[in-house]
Amino acid sequence: MKDLFGTALLDYLNGNFTEDIITSTNISDDDELPLTYLFREFSDMSQLEQKALQLARGKVLDVGCGAGIHSLYLQEQGLEVKAIDVSKGAIEVSKRRGVKNAQLISVLDETETFDTILLMMNGTGIFQELDKTPLYLKHLKTLLNPNGQILIDSTDIKYMYEDDDGGYWQDLHSNYYGELDYLLSYKGESEPLITWLYLDFETLATACESVGLTCELAMEGDHYDYLARIF
Ligand SMILES: C[S@@+](CC[C@H](N)C(=O)[O-])C[C@H]1O[C@@H](n2cnc3c(N)ncnc32)[C@H](O)[C@@H]1O
Repeated sequence: MKDLFGTALLDYLNGNFTEDIITSTNISDDDELPLTYLFREFSDMSQLEQKALQLARGKVLDVGCGAGIHSLYLQEQGLEVKAIDVSKGAIEVSKRRGVKNAQLISVLDETETFDTILLMMNGTGIFQELDKTPLYLKHLKTLLNPNGQILIDSTDIKYMYEDDDGGYWQDLHSNYYGELDYLLSYKGESEPLITWLYLDFETLATACESVGLTCELAMEGDHYDYLARIF
């Protein structure tokens, strides 16, 4: 991993902003991911994110913390927060912005236990593939204190396969439709392709059930997105 994501966050923090991150997938063209968005304040967050932050309680793990926006908000509310990310740049940015406990580790290497585990900005993306989802959920379950909860957002991207006459063009031989090949580029350089998973609520709920977790719909967004509370 070249850590272009972390480099972009660091550039922005250092006042060296010149261009945004570009993302594309196997079913969509180039799209700008504005760096300002990755530094959004509570008032600029979606209602789903605001709801997740309101539901957070106790000792919190912010998985894939990015620039630390959710961790900083919760810290300001007096909660104890640990922020983790696999991006070195993201952890440096989070620490420099004031996140007290930010560590460079993958969620699969986390061993402490928490009252709330937060996975925001299509949190299911980190699971990569539908088949790997039970593995991640099982591990997250081991990180929960009694009465602990996982707050995770995602989107049912079925709408992206809809053609002009209302039908769906999805290849029946392909994997689950929410598994996308995802390319991230920044300043003319690209990361190797990764798989990024969007999960519809029913599929997430079924995966949760398969590992002994309960999944409830905490809130529906306005564009096929949702916040799930898992316990
Ligand atoms: C879409 S960004 C979300 C950033 C932030 N949560 C936000 O809402 O702005 C996903 C983040 O997850 C991190 N990530 C990916 N896989 C991870 C893993 N296995 N463990 C921890 N973090 C991971 C990425 O480096 C990236 O910072």
